[in-house]
Amino acid sequence: MKTFNIIVAHENFLGIGIDNTLPWKIKKDLKHFFTITMAVKEKGKRNALIMGRKTWESLPINVRPLPSRLNIVLSKNYKNLGDCLIFESFEHALKAASLMEDIDEIFVMGGEKVYKEAIGHPMCSKIYITEVYRDIDCDKFFPEYKNKYHLIEESVEYKEGDYRFKFLTYKS
Ligand SMILES: NC(=O)c1ccc[n+]([C@@H]2O[C@H](COP(=O)([O-])OP(=O)(O)OC[C@H]3O[C@@H](n4cnc5c(N)ncnc54)[C@H](OP(=O)(O)O)[C@@H]3O)[C@@H](O)[C@H]2O)c1
Repeated sequence: MKTFNIIVAHENFLGIGIDNTLPWKIKKDLKHFFTITMAVKEKGKRNALIMGRKTWESLPINVRPLPSRLNIVLSKNYKNLGDCLIFESFEHALKAASLMEDIDEIFVMGGEKVYKEAIGHPMCSKIYITEVYRDIDCDKFFPEYKNKYHLIEESVEYKEGDYRFKFLTYKS
């Protein structure tokens, strides 16, 4: 089985979502997500994105599926959700993506339920974090990770509108 990475943006108290949407609109973070998840080491390959059914549903229709990446959705209840591959468990999704020859890296992109399963997984390699330095009302949270992973990269602090944030990379 291949290793995978996690990508997430969280606020001061690890909040990641509210009412099945993102609690903020930060263009530079969306661009960062695009850059990280699109980058491939080998020409002709693409990356896979694993997400929960609710995160899939939270994506605007015009960007669903997220282009040029294999969109994998986890669901026990749905067999057809549009233009994506559906798996009934995280392990099945990971195994299938690992066996696909055209897949370079695998990214877990949320939400709360999927992050919880991914964070303690032995094949989790890196976590790409956007830390948003604000207290924002959220109803979904990212698990505690700083005790299990160590910081290997940290950007300068950026500002967009009312938001200050940094891009950080943690490794297992
Ligand atoms: N800040 C960020 O970086 C970020 C990133 C992504 C999402 N989010 C936010 O997170 C929130 C959504 O998180 P959520 O926890 O409510 O939903 P979610 O994790 O996106 O989706 C949950 C659903 O996915 C399916 N699922 C999850 N784990 C599964 C597994 N191991 N096996 C089979 N099916 C599985 C189930 O679908 P069925 O019920 O169909 O079985 C479950 O009800 C939204 O607010 C979203 O905006 C934030």
